Amino acid sequence: MPGVDDGAPTLEHGLEALSSFFDDGIRRVVTTPHLDGAHANSPRRERIDAAFEELAAAAAISVPDIQLELAYEVRIDDPEADLSDRSLGLSKGGCLLVEFPQLTLPAYSNRMLEVVLAYDWVPVLAHPERYAGVGVAYGWISRWREMGAVMCLNVGSLLGEHGPEAERVARRMLADGQADIVASDHHARPRRSTTLRRGWDLLTEGGSSEDREVAHTLMVSNPLAVLAGTPLTPVSAVESAGGWFGRLRRRLLGGTK
Ligand SMILES: [Fe+2]
Repeated sequence: MPGVDDGAPTLEHGLEALSSFFDDGIRRVVTTPHLDGAHANSPRRERIDAAFEELAAAAAISVPDIQLELAYEVRIDDPEADLSDRSLGLSKGGCLLVEFPQLTLPAYSNRMLEVVLAYDWVPVLAHPERYAGVGVAYGWISRWREMGAVMCLNVGSLLGEHGPEAERVARRMLADGQADIVASDHHARPRRSTTLRRGWDLLTEGGSSEDREVAHTLMVSNPLAVLAGTPLTPVSAVESAGGWFGRLRRRLLGGTK
């Protein structure tokens, strides 16, 4: 999205990113510019919507085979936020992509999710592995999931792009079956290539059919389910003997498999 947040500075950078996605085999992209919950119905949103129209019109010419959709990454920073507009959500699925403010773990994280749930959204929590302190407070992740939230990892965390703590938490979530989706969080900044293909290669490097099935659930079928509003497939703790998951599981849990 050109010029609306810390993503693509210009339209050209947005189009470059879409071309890069296309080269990775991706045919459907949901843009999720940042939006404060307190500003969900403000002029700032109108600016975002206008930028989307600009991007969509240009993309229809330069990358016509990508289906482009608009949603938002809503920062839940205001217990009084009005989240009633259904067009805030991811496609028609009744899911709202949300994040906690400032990449920190709020003491009231369950209350913030309750704000979202009260509007009958399924919260899709962006990058749970990145909030400072979540490694120590790891138990929160299962509480959020029990509340009905979907956990959406950044592929960059698995690749070490967000530091060792985020990488460790992301990999632990995968080994525990606590991750539902792996997404790009791609910001289309200059000279930044997309990493979904690398993430796919990492998850399937062992070559086993179990690894491929898990990667497909995390990167294809569960994202599609979120967009369609259909039930997600649970990603069980992986017990594959071979490959990346197996090694990770043995290292973390000391298992024999
Ligand atoms: Fe975010």
